[in-house]
Amino acid sequence: MPRWFVTGGGGQLATAFADLLEGEVLLNREEALDIRDAEALRVAVHAFAPDCVLHCAAYTDVDGAEAHAETAEAVNVTGTRNVVEAVRGTHTSVVYFSTDYVFDGQKGAPYVESDATRPLNVYGRTKLAGEREVLGWVHGLVVRTAWLFSETGHNFVRSILAAARERAGTGEPLRVVDDQIGSPTYAPHLAAAVDEVVRRGVGPGLYHLAGSGYCSWCELAREVVQLAGLDVEVEPITTREAGRPARRPAFSALDTERPIPRLPHWAEGVAQAVDKLVPLG
Ligand SMILES: NC(=O)c1ccc[n+]([C@@H]2O[C@H](COP(=O)([O-])OP(=O)(O)OC[C@H]3O[C@@H](n4cnc5c(N)ncnc54)[C@H](OP(=O)(O)O)[C@@H]3O)[C@@H](O)[C@H]2O)c1
Repeated sequence: MPRWFVTGGGGQLATAFADLLEGEVLLNREEALDIRDAEALRVAVHAFAPDCVLHCAAYTDVDGAEAHAETAEAVNVTGTRNVVEAVRGTHTSVVYFSTDYVFDGQKGAPYVESDATRPLNVYGRTKLAGEREVLGWVHGLVVRTAWLFSETGHNFVRSILAAARERAGTGEPLRVVDDQIGSPTYAPHLAAAVDEVVRRGVGPGLYHLAGSGYCSWCELAREVVQLAGLDVEVEPITTREAGRPARRPAFSALDTERPIPRLPHWAEGVAQAVDKLVPLG
């Protein structure tokens, strides 16, 4: 049975791994282990001697990163370098999770692994620099994913459901950005695909793994509201009207040119998440 060391153990994706993985799993939460502390990380990794590190810890607040670039850099770049240094001299593989926000959104078609990167925001720049740290490791895998959601943690599907419940029956619409397109990804679908990729022993390198298909945030919100049976209108707005601090790509759907498993369609993931969330009230 493989031994898995998971950084960022309290997060959304790490939780999906914890629910799925077989074998010995060590979930490290920020309060137990800050990945910026290179020595503590090295000691913890050596003590556990994992076959694979699933490096889920990250500074993930896209808008917050604009004002806290140093922190985003320390966690996403230096922290990732520390993870790689902690396994150096072993056979441990490192799987790092990156983002569609490494692209500028100008391609007009889904991005594949060989496409050129050009991040528009601090978060994307720091995640891209983290990729380079991991690709420098002989057993390093970079998995780019996008628009993650699940039943737990901070994510768009849960936020929309909460906002729609508040407005249901009031006549007040939900206003959601309609000019950004991406590939929503159900975290348990991603976790299952990563588990398969690692077990198959695919080589090191760069992989795109995101929900099949693509949609806008507004379309995603409509799907959630409709599946939850809530009486709320979802009104499309532009990125400019939303006025968020970080620039985001207009079209950052992901596709792959590698022989790896495809994830189910994003709408299947939304249906599964809403099915679990709606009875919770
Ligand atoms: N969410 C998305 O839409 C999305 C899209 C594309 C790629 N990704 C990537 O996928 C990965 C997982 O994302 P996620 O949605 O699961 O994020 P998440 O829920 O925000 O989880 C990240 C975890 O990292 C922890 N963390 C932050 N700083 C840390 C530090 N210095 N040391 C140790 N742990 C630290 C956080 O702890 P606290 O909560 O205590 O800060 C949190 O538990 C990340 O690499 C992210 O960049 C996410």
